[in-house]
Amino acid sequence: MRKGVVVNIEATLRSIMTAIESAETMSGREVHTVWTGIGGSHIDGINSRGVVAVTGKGREIGASDIARVLEAARAVMIPMDRQILEVIPQSYIVDDQKGIRDPLDMMGVRLEAEVHIITCSGTSAQNLTKCVNRAGYLVNDLVLQSLAAGRSVLAAEEKELGVALVDLGGGTTELLVYSDGTPYSITTIPAGGEQVTRDISIIKGISFENAEKIKIDAGCCWEAMLEANDDVIIPGVGGRPPMRIPRAQILTIIQPRMEEIFRMVKEELDTLNLSRPLGGGIVLTGGGAQLLGVAELANQVFRMPVRVGTPLSIGGLVEEYRSPVYAAAVGLVLEGNDREGKAGSDRSGGTPPRESGQDGFHIKLLDWLKKEFF
Ligand SMILES: Nc1ncnc2c1ncn2[C@@H]1O[C@H](COP(=O)(O)OP(=O)(O)O)[C@@H](O)[C@H]1O
Ligand SMILES: [Mg+2]
Repeated sequence: MRKGVVVNIEATLRSIMTAIESAETMSGREVHTVWTGIGGSHIDGINSRGVVAVTGKGREIGASDIARVLEAARAVMIPMDRQILEVIPQSYIVDDQKGIRDPLDMMGVRLEAEVHIITCSGTSAQNLTKCVNRAGYLVNDLVLQSLAAGRSVLAAEEKELGVALVDLGGGTTELLVYSDGTPYSITTIPAGGEQVTRDISIIKGISFENAEKIKIDAGCCWEAMLEANDDVIIPGVGGRPPMRIPRAQILTIIQPRMEEIFRMVKEELDTLNLSRPLGGGIVLTGGGAQLLGVAELANQVFRMPVRVGTPLSIGGLVEEYRSPVYAAAVGLVLEGNDREGKAGSDRSGGTPPRESGQDGFHIKLLDWLKKEFF
C-alpha cells in the first residue's frame, strides 16, 4: 500500500493473511470477519446540516426524529466516485436553542443537526475490501483509521477540551481534531516516516531496509537526548567495510524532516479557525511516535503540551500492544466489539456465538464462493 491506497493487490492480500494468521495463532481463535481501517490522502471531511419537523408524540423528540435529521444531513451532493464513511453528529439545534449534545426527549418543533461527513474514494475502498475478501475474510465495515486511533488513545476529557491527534504513519500523517467532545476536522498530510527513512538512505548511500533499521535502532530528533560519543554502525555497501558514525549525524538527517512534517500539521491547524485553543494539546501516535524525542520536537513547533498516545489496556498480551504503532488496531478492536455487542443485544441480549453450526456452514459456503469467484 502507498499513502493509504492499495498499489499491489497480491502483496497486500499476502500481508493481510500473514497478519491474521499470526493473530489467530497468538489468540487461539479463528477469524472470519474483520473490521478494516481505512485512511490516506483520499479521505475528506465536510460539514453539513439537516433540518426536520419534530413528529414525535406531543412534540417530544424521539429516536426516529434524530435518525431522520441525520439522514437529512447526509443528503449532500458528493461526487459519484466517492462514498460516505462516517456521519458524525456534532451538535443539534432545537427551535432556536443551539449547542445541544443530545436532543432525545426534549420538546421542540424544529430539529436541526450539524454533522461532519467523512468520505473516501470509492475505488480505494473497493480495492481494500477486495484484498480482504481475497485473503479469505469478510469485511464487517470500513472504519476511518484515525478515528479508531483516537478511540484507543484519547481521554474523554481531552476531547472535551479540544485536542489534535497527530497519527504519524508510513506514507501519510493524519490530523484529527476534536472540539467540544466530537471530531471537528480530519486532514491527511502526504508525508510520513518513509520520507525520513528515504532521507537517511539517500544521504548515507545505503538501502531503504538498512536505513529503516538505523532509524528505528538509533534514530532521535532531539539533540539534548543524545549522549556524547554515542555512535552507530552503518553497514557497508558493495563489499565496503561498515562505518562508525556519530548518532548526532543521523539526528541532523531526521530532525529537519520531522520538523517539516510538524510544520505542515501546524499550518493545517492554523487554517481551522478554532473558536478556542486546544486545551488538550497535541497527542502523537502511530509508528513515528516511537521516535526518540518526537514529543520534545513537536512541543517546540506547536508550542502546546504534547504527549505520546499509547493504547489503553484492554486485556490479553498488554505489553505487546501497548505501543503507539497499534493505536489504530486496538481502536478497531474496541469499535468492533462495541458494534457487535450492540447488534447482539438488539437481537437476543448477548453476542451470538461465532461457531454455531449454522455460522460454520455459512462460512464454508463463503469460503467456497470466494475461491470460485474472487
Ligand atoms: N521506533 C521507531 N522510530 C521511528 N520510526 C518508527 C519506529 N517504529 C516505526 N516507525 C515508523 O512508523 C511508520 C509506520 O507507522 P504505522 O503507524 O505503522 O504506519 P501506517 O499507519 O501508515 O500503516 C514507518 O515509517 C516506520 O519507519
Ligand atoms: Mg498507523
